[in-house]
Amino acid sequence: MGGLKRMLSFKKAELLPVDLKLIDDYLDEPSKFLFFQMSKIDQCHCMDVAKTILNEAGYTRSLKLDKVIKAALLHDIGKIDGDLTFCSRLFVGLVRRVMPELRRKLAKKSSNGFWSKIRYGFYVDLNHPLRGSHMARIFGIDPAIVSLIRRHHDRLPDGQDEELALLQTADNKN
Ligand SMILES: [Fe+2]
Ligand SMILES: [Fe+2]
Repeated sequence: MGGLKRMLSFKKAELLPVDLKLIDDYLDEPSKFLFFQMSKIDQCHCMDVAKTILNEAGYTRSLKLDKVIKAALLHDIGKIDGDLTFCSRLFVGLVRRVMPELRRKLAKKSSNGFWSKIRYGFYVDLNHPLRGSHMARIFGIDPAIVSLIRRHHDRLPDGQDEELALLQTADNKN
C-alpha cells in the first residue's frame, strides 16, 4: 500500500527510538542514506513492513531473515521524497486496488500542475521497483536485496520464492 493505510488512519509518520535502533542494527551507511532519502511516510511504511516480518518470525536472527529485513527497509526507496503528494497517494492507492491496469494509461513522466503531479504519481508507482533496484545497485547493496527490491510487486506463483513471498505478504498488510 506504500503508506496509504497510514495516511488514511491519520497515524503520525514518525520513527521511534526503537525504530532507529532497528535501522542501526540492520543497515550499513549506504543503505541508511537510501532509507532516509524516502519521505517520512515511506520510511514508516518500510519500517512497518520490517516489523511485521520480525513479529511473524519471532525475532530469531538468521542470515536469510536479515536479508529480508534489509529488503523490507529498502523496498520502496524508488519513491523519492517529494515524488508523491497527499492527493497522488490517494489516487494511486485507489486505482491500484480497483483498476490496477489503468495505471499504465494514466502514468506520465512530467509533474507540472495538479493533474500532472497525480499522473506522475502513477509513473512513480509503476516504476519505483526498477528505479529503486538501480539506486540500490549503484550504492553497492547486496545483489540478492537488489533483486528483492526489483521484484517486490511482481506476481509469483505461491511458494516459488520464500523471501519474496515474506516481503510481499508483509507489504500487503501495511
Ligand atoms: Fe511497500
Ligand atoms: Fe512498492
